Amino acid sequence: MPASVVLGTQWGDEGKGKITDLMAENADVVVRYQGGNNAGHTIVVGDEKFALSLIPSGVLYPTVTPVIGNGCVVDPKVLLDEMATLRGRGIDPSKVRVSNNAHLIMPYHRKLDAVIERFLGDAQIGTTKRGIGPAYMDKYSRFGIRAQDLFDLKIFRKKLDAALKDKNKQLTKVYNSLPLDLEEIYTEYVGFAEQLADHITDTSLIVSDALAEGKHVLFEGAQGTLLDIDHGTYPFVTSSNPVAGGAAVGSGIGPKQIDDIVGVTKAYISRVGTGPFPTELLDETGDRLIEIGGEYGVVTGRRRRCGWLDAVALRYAVRVNGLTEIALTKLDVLSHFDTIKIATAYDSDGERYTEFPRQQRVLYNCTPVYEEHKGWGDDITGARTFDDLPAAAQDYVHRIEELAGIPIRTVSVGPSRAATLKRA
Ligand code: IMP
Repeated sequence: MPASVVLGTQWGDEGKGKITDLMAENADVVVRYQGGNNAGHTIVVGDEKFALSLIPSGVLYPTVTPVIGNGCVVDPKVLLDEMATLRGRGIDPSKVRVSNNAHLIMPYHRKLDAVIERFLGDAQIGTTKRGIGPAYMDKYSRFGIRAQDLFDLKIFRKKLDAALKDKNKQLTKVYNSLPLDLEEIYTEYVGFAEQLADHITDTSLIVSDALAEGKHVLFEGAQGTLLDIDHGTYPFVTSSNPVAGGAAVGSGIGPKQIDDIVGVTKAYISRVGTGPFPTELLDETGDRLIEIGGEYGVVTGRRRRCGWLDAVALRYAVRVNGLTEIALTKLDVLSHFDTIKIATAYDSDGERYTEFPRQQRVLYNCTPVYEEHKGWGDDITGARTFDDLPAAAQDYVHRIEELAGIPIRTVSVGPSRAATLKRA
């Protein structure tokens, strides 16, 4: 299994951190291929909890080279802070490598993220306000500053000057905000350059060499399929491609080099921020899923919206990612419910949709078609093999497999590494 992608099949927060961490144990290189510090993954090792937002999970293993690929946007201050935090907890981040082609998040990106959201009012996306969208906007408008620019200060200053002239106009004239100071940003980023000099390099070469040597490379997707800029519920999405195709583009390898694509799926579903959500539960059941599931954002602390598993969306994720298997997480949360539902289709305007609708409008006004499953009631957090699960829990897993059309090879029944059931 030389090259595997692990990604979310929903709107993020599927519990990717734990699954990625488990897979990272056998990896030589772990690559983040998109997004930035908008992601948040919690990893539990023994009694210790680690919350990472930018550095790949593999950093916890001394044998792993953690790579932040060209498809990511990097806030250098956040990167340095995360490395310092890890060092403070006895973990050596010196092997972290950042692509020379990754775009940098600049102070004006963070500021614009906040003022644009404010400006949008009711239409706001509910971004993490980390500057992710504005940094990708600059990348695609060819106005961005890349990590490699930090090592040619003449070019860096020229690009910063040009960008800042434009951004300050936007900030002051459009958004009625204060301008930012060139010297201040320049000095701060020159300082970052010195501290990051050993980390920024051609990571495409690192990944390609590892693959050529038959090493195991794990590509770690952030956010989730339904937050993908192309395949998600646009415009309520992030600004990059969490889908499996993004792994090749965002790390500088060819698509044929990927062998396995693991879709992490929560046993129910959640989303943060705005946007359509057919199976959302706005009742007491939804509140219980949030409380029992601890559904509060790692990055922003926001309360997540929760609902029953959506098999229409899951099948869509199987398709757009070419998933080869599923890792099902947080099954233990459902132990607290007498009845568990799965949406197998949507009804809208007299039509039944078994495929993800091509008109997004349908997602807003449809009625999910649910099938009901009897709950199992027993605490399953102590299960260590699939056979330890009550029959009703096993049936629930089998049914999801049937609806998705691919195998569920991993079932997680608790936050610890031990609470993971592997299946052949
Ligand atoms: P942005 O990525 O900060 O621009 O936010 C765009 C949308 O993606 C918002 O709805 C965010 O709440 C959502 N989002 C971004 N990162 C994550 C994540 O890691 N988990 C869940 N939602 C996310």
